[in-house]
Amino acid sequence: MAEATIWSVGGYAPPYIVTNDMLTTRMDTSDEWIRTRTGIRERRTAGPDETTATVSATAAQAALDAYGFNADDLDWVVVCTDTPEMWSPATACFVQEAIGARRASAIDLTGGCAGFLQTLQLLSPLAASGKRMLVIGTELLTHALNWRDRATAVLFGDGSGAFLLGSSDDADGIRIGPGLSRSDGSQADILGKPYGGTRYRITPELVQQGEMHTIRMEGPKVFKHAVTLMSEIGKTLLSQAALTAEQIDWVVPHQANQRIIDAVAHQVGFRMDQVFSHVAHYANTGSASIGLALADMLEQKLIAPGQKLLSVAFGAGFSWASQLFVVNRIPASRFLHAGEILGDAWGWDT
Ligand code: ACO
Repeated sequence: MAEATIWSVGGYAPPYIVTNDMLTTRMDTSDEWIRTRTGIRERRTAGPDETTATVSATAAQAALDAYGFNADDLDWVVVCTDTPEMWSPATACFVQEAIGARRASAIDLTGGCAGFLQTLQLLSPLAASGKRMLVIGTELLTHALNWRDRATAVLFGDGSGAFLLGSSDDADGIRIGPGLSRSDGSQADILGKPYGGTRYRITPELVQQGEMHTIRMEGPKVFKHAVTLMSEIGKTLLSQAALTAEQIDWVVPHQANQRIIDAVAHQVGFRMDQVFSHVAHYANTGSASIGLALADMLEQKLIAPGQKLLSVAFGAGFSWASQLFVVNRIPASRFLHAGEILGDAWGWDT
């Protein structure tokens, strides 16, 4: 039976590097506090002319170029994001136009930091049936931060990861195995970006406060739930697949922060040398993080045929997910990550 397969991977980490020390010019924080609480040393921000659609299109094109795939042959372009280009139309429509996928249908999905795995689970049957699709996880989270809120502003970054998906009948790459996902909307108030939708409309007062479009989070509650729920769903998937932690070659977790990653690894029973993390350099990039991580792992040649990978993710909603991948052949990949320190002039006004 044909199975959904990742044919190629594209990753784009936008060019500007914002270090922890640079944040200290904006808020009462320190490199030491951020590193010890989160493991983050720096994050990327998109350039002034970049948007969610352009960043997505860059990662998407990287995936297409890596494989040598003609965009005209795509059936679907799907963007998973919580920081869309506009309310309407879908970011994916701009991407579809930018990459020239003239026959494709384009749509967005939103699921917080677990959204990319949820999207893969939703779309895998379509890919297995022969549809060729680009699934792109993108966030410009630095556009959604309140730079006066030091408890959230230090955690996030911008980026995009794209998978070219198809059926295992056509080509070999990384097979998308079984996955699980769950949501609990009763926890919606704990983490999110509430203003600007239909429940909390933007008012002149909110605009004046400059906080209408920013992320709000109860950090310690998020931490506790993230660790518990990612560990549980990781263990459940392993048990359903009759696998032990030892049999997993790589854990590719959502890159939230190093303490969450360490705690989940410990609770599920992984050694830290089984766990991939580059959160130190890219921070939390939401829906983009697992695609970016895989692009980086492929560039570093960490992935080999026959390996089994487990991803776990958690985010706003709450929603959380786990996903198994099996490497048949190493997929083509391209990871664009040349960066430069933004310097004193960096300024993302909120
Ligand atoms: N710099 C310096 N001090 C800070 C900063 C900062 N950037 N942010 C908060 N503080 C202060 C607080 O004001 C508080 O001070 P107070 O005690 O005087 O009130 C103090 O630090 C809290 O310190 P800790 O208790 O050590 O902080 P904690 O261990 O709770 O860590 C953190 C905070 C990092 C936010 C933690 O709760 C966390 O990681 N939560 C998860 C957040 C997350 O990853 N969210 C991402 C979205 S969901 C996902 O992707 C999984």
